[in-house]
Parts: sequence; C-alpha cells; structure tokens
Amino acid sequence: MQRRRFLQSLGSLTLPAVAQALASMQLSAHAAERMGTPRWRADPFALGVASGEPRPDSVLLWTRLFPGPAVPGESASAHQQQANFEEKSGLSAFQSSAVSYEIYADENLTQPVRKGEVLTHAQRGWSVHARVSGLQPDRTYWYRFHSGGVVSPVGRTRTAPAADAVVSRLRLALASCQHYEQGHYTAHADMARQDVDFVLFLGDYIYESTNPRYRLRPHTGGVPRTLAEYRERHALYKMDADLRACHATHPWVCTWDDHEVVNDYATDQDAAYTDPAVFLARRAAAYQAYFEHMPVWPAGAPGAVVTAAELDTLEVAHPRIHQHWTWGQLVDLWTLDCRQYRSAQPCRDPIKGGGRVVLSCGEADDPGRSMLGLAQEQWLAQGLAGSRRRWRLLGQSTQLSSTRIDTPLGRSIYTDGWDGYAAARARLLTAVSDAGVDNVVSLGGDVHQNVAAQLRLRPNDAQSPILASEIVTTSITSRGMGENLLARIRGSNPDIAHARSDERGYTLLDVSPQRVQARFLTTPFPAQPGAALGTQARYQVLSGKAGVEPV
Ligand SMILES: [Fe+2]
Repeated sequence: MQRRRFLQSLGSLTLPAVAQALASMQLSAHAAERMGTPRWRADPFALGVASGEPRPDSVLLWTRLFPGPAVPGESASAHQQQANFEEKSGLSAFQSSAVSYEIYADENLTQPVRKGEVLTHAQRGWSVHARVSGLQPDRTYWYRFHSGGVVSPVGRTRTAPAADAVVSRLRLALASCQHYEQGHYTAHADMARQDVDFVLFLGDYIYESTNPRYRLRPHTGGVPRTLAEYRERHALYKMDADLRACHATHPWVCTWDDHEVVNDYATDQDAAYTDPAVFLARRAAAYQAYFEHMPVWPAGAPGAVVTAAELDTLEVAHPRIHQHWTWGQLVDLWTLDCRQYRSAQPCRDPIKGGGRVVLSCGEADDPGRSMLGLAQEQWLAQGLAGSRRRWRLLGQSTQLSSTRIDTPLGRSIYTDGWDGYAAARARLLTAVSDAGVDNVVSLGGDVHQNVAAQLRLRPNDAQSPILASEIVTTSITSRGMGENLLARIRGSNPDIAHARSDERGYTLLDVSPQRVQARFLTTPFPAQPGAALGTQARYQVLSGKAGVEPV
C-alpha cells in the first residue's frame, strides 16, 4: 500500500531519478509507518484547490493542508506555525498523512474517473501534488480532495487536446504582478467567470516588498527571507477568495519572475550584493515555498537529477520551470525562465545593484550576456526550428520590445529588462528568423502596463523586418509607471503600438488558425473589490503577417 502511494509520486521523474527515488524508499516507508489520521478542528482547505500543467492525458492537482493562520492578520514564527498546525490537525511534525483525491467527468461528481492518495508531511509544508494521468484529451474534469473526513471545495480543470488534433481555438487569460497590498483581486474574480482554457501566469505571483504609499491591505510579516516567512506570504495571498476562485476554476500554466524571491535578482546575485552562497539559501527557501503553493511540479534542470529527497521536500537545487506545451495543431507554447540563469544586470551601481535606468551602457550589448542562459536559449531555438504548429507563443516574464529613451546625452535603458540583454534578444529573434517560422507571438508581464509591439532584429529600425509580435499584459494590482515617463518611451520607440500603465487587469488571448486577438481588460488603479473591468484596447496578429495591429 505504501509502496503504491510512493510510486504514484514517481510519475514524472527521469529514469535515473526513479532509480534514486526507489533507493530511498526505505526512508519514505519509514515515514509512512508514522502515518497519522488528522482530527481537524478547522477547515484544512483554507487555501483552496488548484490545477495546472494541462497535457493531453494528464493534469496536476494541488492543495495544501492549511487550517488557517495562527492568528488571522498577524505574522507567525516557524514555531508558531507548527504549533498551530498541530493543534488544529492532531498531527505532529514527525508524522505524515495520506490525502486522497478524486477526479470526475461531470460537474455533479457522479462519474468517477480516477482516484488515489498522496502522502504529505511537514517537510513539504503539508502540500499535495497529484499528477493524474490516463485522462482523455480536450476534456473538462472536476476534482476534490479528502483529509481526515473533511472534503475540499470542488475544482474544475481540463486537459489539452491531443498533440495532433485539429483545433479551432485556444483561449488564454494572461496575468502577472499581483501585489497583495496594492489592490484587490478583482481581475481574478473576472477571470474565474470567463470561458478560458487556462490561465498563463507570467510572474510576480507574490511580492516580498512593501510600499506604504500604495497599501490598501497589509502583508503580514516583514520581508520574507526564510522558508517559514515565504510560506506565510504565499498562504496570505491564497487566502484571498478571488484568487482561490480563479485557481479552482481553470488550470494554470506558470512561470516566475523576480518577486517570488526578491526584486531584481539574477541567478545567484541580489541587488544588495549578498554573498551568493547566502543568497542561494534564501532563493532555495523561496523556490520551495513557491512549489509548495503552486500547481507546478519542479522538474530537474537539463542534465540534473531530481532526487527523491528533493522531491520529498520540494527543495530542488536547480528546478526547471521552463517548459513546452502544445494545444493540438494550433499552438506551440514555450514558458521561459528569465531569472534563474540570467547574467547580472549590466552597468550596476556598485552600492545598490539590480536594475536601473542608465545612460550609454555599452555592457548591455556584450554578446556574452544572457537572459535565459545558453542551455535554455538553445532549447528554445531548437524548439522553434522544429515547430510545425500554426502559432508559436513565448510565455516569458517581461517586455521583449525596447523601452529605451533617446536623450541629447545618449541612449538611456532600463537594465533589468531585455534592453540590458540586447545581444541575447538579438539571438532570440535571429533564432526566429533562422527557423524560417512565422506566427511567433511573445507574451509578457512584469512591467505593469499593457503593450502591443512589433519585434524586429534591430528595434525601431524600419529597415529591419518585423519578425514577430508582442503582447504584454498589465498587472493584476501592482502600480504602473507614470504617464510622463511612458509617453517618452512611446515617443522613442515606434515599434510600440500601444502602451498604457494607468490601469490594472488581465488580457484575454483568443487564438484561432486565422489570427491571435488580444483584449486588454482593465480597471483603474487601484483595483477595488467588485469593480467592473472594461476593454482598454484590442490588438490582433494575422496568420502569415508578423506584427500587431489594432482591431
Ligand atoms: Fe511586478
């Protein structure tokens, strides 16, 4: 019995990883001996349920046993978090517990399809990930969890169409940047009411930082640095009912940006020039908390092996979050990791590192610099070269088109964005050109503005052909830049067809064989509860014709 449960967790491992996982079965079997049945004194599903990673035959189901915070609205230490959990569950930190899941073919839960159990324990924050395979392609499913006699809310999810299926539509909701303090998750409430196939979340799911000027509702705790502190931050965000509703209604496909760890980090560097070994320990804590709270499974980096011990705790040294997804014959989608492998920002201030606006930074053009890391660059280039589907979508964290400003004193760039990685951007667009593929659309977030732009090998040079198109979604809540600055950016960058930073929301992306249409849905800053979202603008890309145009 224990063995079967354990084997269920091996589904996505590479063969060497499976061997290692099996070698450590002793350890897991030992933990299972101390398995406990919880006696809940509070709802253990306070953070809701979620699903993600829609494949033609599988989805990933998520929940976390979390019976509410120790004291609502207040920060709790690691010790207090554990004591609170023990008191409300009857489970000790040395026990594990089996959580069962069920998946159904109908909303009324009368047609069971699959069921199973997953072991969880304190070392993985009592999080639960169940990859359910053997499902039918292009189908909606409903699911729920059980723990100690308590039943979770019901979630809805769906599988992708078969990889070779003829598909007439994909509808996505694009979202990013949801600073909890700066607004309400009205956009998520709206997304939960939409008929979309999945949510593509492009980063800044939590924020570590605070800005007292724009605080509608406070974070608990200070800036997170430890696993317990990152867990508390994630739990706070997931206690928002609108965010839970959006997770429960649609599968999500996710990548991350910087604020899941700390502003402007780059691989092993942070803006404070912390010793990389110290920073990597913080990053590992942040990544672990991320995986504990998201419907995302941390695959190993290319060439790396995910050990059973790593999966047991979700403390994966080099997790791979970049992935390739398909939607029938209609779409290839690559979700990219723009943080874990990037070169540090160029022309850094020696006191306060990270990104900044800087004049005449030659280092930005250094061909040795990379945003994605060379392995991920090559993986993407090979994927583009081999792509035979109608559309090629890139889901990446930030804005690919240039936001430089030409001044009498020289060219000013923002070094944390792709302008700080100009040669890497040129390599990406050269890969598009060399692959001889059209219908490439980059989807981004991070900059807290809606953008529609043309992508050329030489930005803003009318002699350089448009190779691809860009749609960037505004933030769910996070405040955008001022209009004066944005007007200067628009004035210096004719490739930008649309840029507005004054409104919050998300973007509906409708993909058909004939076109991709983006509809920017927004409400003024700050996003208020129950606000109605309106259409700010619509842009489209026609099949066979690179470039955005207003609709
Ligand atoms: Fe952001």
